[in-house]
Amino acid sequence: MLRFANPSPDATPLFILEPDQLEAWTGSQPDSFGTWMRAAGFEGKPGQTCLVPDTQGEVACALVGVGHAQAQARSRFQLATAAAKLPQGTYAIASAHSHDELREHALGWLLSRYSFERYKASPPHKAQLVCPEGVDAASLEQIVAGEALTRDLINTPASDMGPEALEAAARDLATQHGASCRVTVGDELLAQNFPMVHAVGRASAQKPRLIDLTWGDEGPALTLIGKGVCFDTGGLNIKPAGSMGLMKKDMGGSAAVLGLAHMIMAAGLKLRLRVLIPAVENAIDGSAFRPQDILTSRKGLTVEINNTDAEGRLVLADALALADETPPDLMICMATLTGAARVAVGPDLAPFYTDDDTLAQAIAKGASTARDPVWRMPFHNPYEAMIEPGIADLDNAPKGGFAGSITAALFLRRFVEQTPRFVHFDIYGWQPVAAPARPKGGVGQATRALFDALPEILEL
Ligand code: BES
Ligand code: MN
Ligand code: ZN
Repeated sequence: MLRFANPSPDATPLFILEPDQLEAWTGSQPDSFGTWMRAAGFEGKPGQTCLVPDTQGEVACALVGVGHAQAQARSRFQLATAAAKLPQGTYAIASAHSHDELREHALGWLLSRYSFERYKASPPHKAQLVCPEGVDAASLEQIVAGEALTRDLINTPASDMGPEALEAAARDLATQHGASCRVTVGDELLAQNFPMVHAVGRASAQKPRLIDLTWGDEGPALTLIGKGVCFDTGGLNIKPAGSMGLMKKDMGGSAAVLGLAHMIMAAGLKLRLRVLIPAVENAIDGSAFRPQDILTSRKGLTVEINNTDAEGRLVLADALALADETPPDLMICMATLTGAARVAVGPDLAPFYTDDDTLAQAIAKGASTARDPVWRMPFHNPYEAMIEPGIADLDNAPKGGFAGSITAALFLRRFVEQTPRFVHFDIYGWQPVAAPARPKGGVGQATRALFDALPEILEL
């Protein structure tokens, strides 16, 4: 688990400085500090670091630059970039900042300490931070543990993160928090009426399954649903090589909801939590579902398959229908659902859909405090016609390719009727190039935003 250092009088004071603050800072320190700083060329640029010696040549303090406000707006978690460059030791922030800034610095530092080590050891982390006063260290550690779980699950390749391993990960999490976990596997999915989870997953060597985790017995009910496509070949409408390359991440929605579930359970939020994950591999063999097949969903709506690569909405539809049968106060769906979402907003923003303006505002507020950006998208009702084919109730892959993320979201909404508040995130789940506090690879999106927003949304 990624942790802060214990407070210690020996910790090296760390000054986080903007270019305009250098003069005031040198004025408040021994003359030699300013002389050294200038000689070392420290200008407070983003990511710049400088160790300042005392008269004995020992490190007296460390300086970290974060740049002007403009640079800070371009990149969150500036301290994290510098953390990687600081030598071994324990550091304590000595400059003055608002509580929100201190929380961001501490969170970014801890997030930046993550590395994926299942297959290759990395050099141990060197620089440690003492959690700033007034910032809740335990809470940040729980949030970062949830994020690390999400990243580990996504980064693990399908050879070790198939439907069986995803089930095992959910069971581990349940055991860790005293939650219950029931799983419906293989043909039992047909007996229990989850026909689309079965249809999408039946061509895989590992049986499709529906994971159902429950925790907590008081307070409002929250159901999380996550897309658990452990690998997406596209099925018979097979993806070209370039598009298949990253598809181990197609369980990113399930990884995100498990990470969020960890945050909720570790914090002991007073709510009744349910997590539903259809865990499948969209694979190819003689039993694979085909283009033009018509599937009857759990809800009874029939679906014409016009592309077996639009599989996520199928498995989610059965899970959403189940969730909606025992309507919670709030339902959150997370899925790496469409390439269209990636084209529209790129990898850094988590696009989301809801009909509830108050809910949308609370999520946006959470996103800003958690430094976890989201963007609201429209449930545009006139596009409902696009998801209606000729000979079935619904079309899983409307022709024309217009508004692909919106039509996918509208498809999902058809399966939620009883639940008063519903939000769906069409996330990317992957950091394509390293950024502060986010190494290249699997990444949680909107989970910290939601965790911060939940107390307001559910009046906890
Ligand atoms: N898992 C993909 C969506 C995806 C692709 C997310 C790339 C992130 C990056 C999904 O199952 C899919 O293949 N969707 C198709 C739907 C289309 C056939 C209607 C898409 O978006 O191209
Ligand atoms: Mn697909
Ligand atoms: Zn997919």
